Amino acid sequence: MTRTTADPRLDAIRRTLERAGQGHLLAFYDALDGPARARLLAAIDSIEPARLADLARVAIGADSAATIPDDLAPAPYYPRDPASPVRPWDRDRFRAAGEAIIRAGQAAVFTVAGGQGTRLGFDGPKGCHPAGPVTGKPLFQVLAEQVRAASARFGVAIPWRIMTSPLNHDATTAFFDTHGSFGLAPGQVGFFRQGVLPTFDARTGKVLLADKDAPATNPDGHGGSLRALHRSGALDELAGLGVEHLFYTQIDNPLVRAVDPIFLGLHARADDSSAEMSSKMIAKADPAEKVGVFCTAGGRLRIIEYSDLPPALAEARDDTGELRFKAGSPAIHVIALGFIRRLNEAPGGFALPLHRALKRVPHVDPTTGERVDPAEPNAVKLETFVFDALPMCERSVVLETDRFEFAPIKNATGADSPETCARLQTARNAAWLEAAGVRVPRNKAGEPDCVIEISPLTALEADDLAGRDLPAAIEPGARVAL
Ligand code: UTP
Repeated sequence: MTRTTADPRLDAIRRTLERAGQGHLLAFYDALDGPARARLLAAIDSIEPARLADLARVAIGADSAATIPDDLAPAPYYPRDPASPVRPWDRDRFRAAGEAIIRAGQAAVFTVAGGQGTRLGFDGPKGCHPAGPVTGKPLFQVLAEQVRAASARFGVAIPWRIMTSPLNHDATTAFFDTHGSFGLAPGQVGFFRQGVLPTFDARTGKVLLADKDAPATNPDGHGGSLRALHRSGALDELAGLGVEHLFYTQIDNPLVRAVDPIFLGLHARADDSSAEMSSKMIAKADPAEKVGVFCTAGGRLRIIEYSDLPPALAEARDDTGELRFKAGSPAIHVIALGFIRRLNEAPGGFALPLHRALKRVPHVDPTTGERVDPAEPNAVKLETFVFDALPMCERSVVLETDRFEFAPIKNATGADSPETCARLQTARNAAWLEAAGVRVPRNKAGEPDCVIEISPLTALEADDLAGRDLPAAIEPGARVAL
């Protein structure tokens, strides 16, 4: 039977927790002082105890999702080459349309930067991690320079909103303060926090205790942005500025074209009315590449995770020998504010599916009070993914882009690491310089024999280098920052 006390609020929380099999969260309540008790109850409240039983079932894998629909087909897309017979389209028209929207102040940049960067293992928000291959300038600065350069080009202060998490918010805003917001205009950059979800013991489905007065929590995934934009007031604030579309970017990809008029033009003007959420895609080089793939099912666009795509489909080829399901996602979108509002203000709200990730999470043992630092992954973090909103869209556009737009920093070493990111930046910059007539030294494998960084303030795209004062050639082994 549930204990009762003189505190009806405590009793109610205890009853709810015990019904959900999570009574241990109050194991140390009696031994805590007043402020710690208040902290614990507030933290339990914020993870919505009434949802815990359902979340725990997902955490231990009892409610696993991922079924492949029978009518799964490759998603249609606009090819990178607008003259391609696959689907010819008018690049100049859509560029002009996108530029007009940006100039009218109707587009903002939105960056999700609330992740924990566990794979990278960097001490601090990932956006503070060095990204410039020569200067070492941080990821946040690279994007800030893109926003500044695009603002100057289109004659409008493009707003930039950054989603943090409760775990990295203060460190993120302090970093911007220390660096004078990287030269952005006052008020141009703004921050808001995403929500959190409880972190579960992978074996038992019990919520872990981060401390005697705190359940363990983790940020609720980049999908949490769709709710946090609304709940934080950022959506209303941006709408008040006249913004209608968000360029969605992730903080770990310095090569993203954050403000892309062509992409925006297609999103907003390809059909009779604007798309709700659009996406860039990169053609997969081989079937094993670990990116989600754009598909359609039931007349809706969706992304199937690489781990959920059966090998027979991942490896299937069309008549021309191309992969059938080749449209990989680099996590670059344009999202209409109206779509985010529609989701949040729908009767009954909206819910994105929960995905599980197995992680190593230190915690406090609820029976002994001892700290436990597990050697192996012991915990399940639940997260939502922003692309799971795609099937909820009425209209959606997919545009192919080139590999040079995707150089994420995910891991400390190996694939998608600072090293591969730096190499791709140099490769892209070498191609840009060569197109402008600069001689770039290359080794036998054809890779640049030098390191090149180009600030977004110097060039946002290859054509921006035309007419610039550039060296005739780069010396072998040189490190050049332009
Ligand atoms: P990832 O899924 O790669 O996760 O995030 P991560 O947190 O950076 O790194 P790991 O998985 O812990 O190693 C892709 C983008 O989504 C953001 C990240 O900041 C990154 O820009 N993100 C992720 C959030 O904003 N919130 C989250 O809860 C998760």
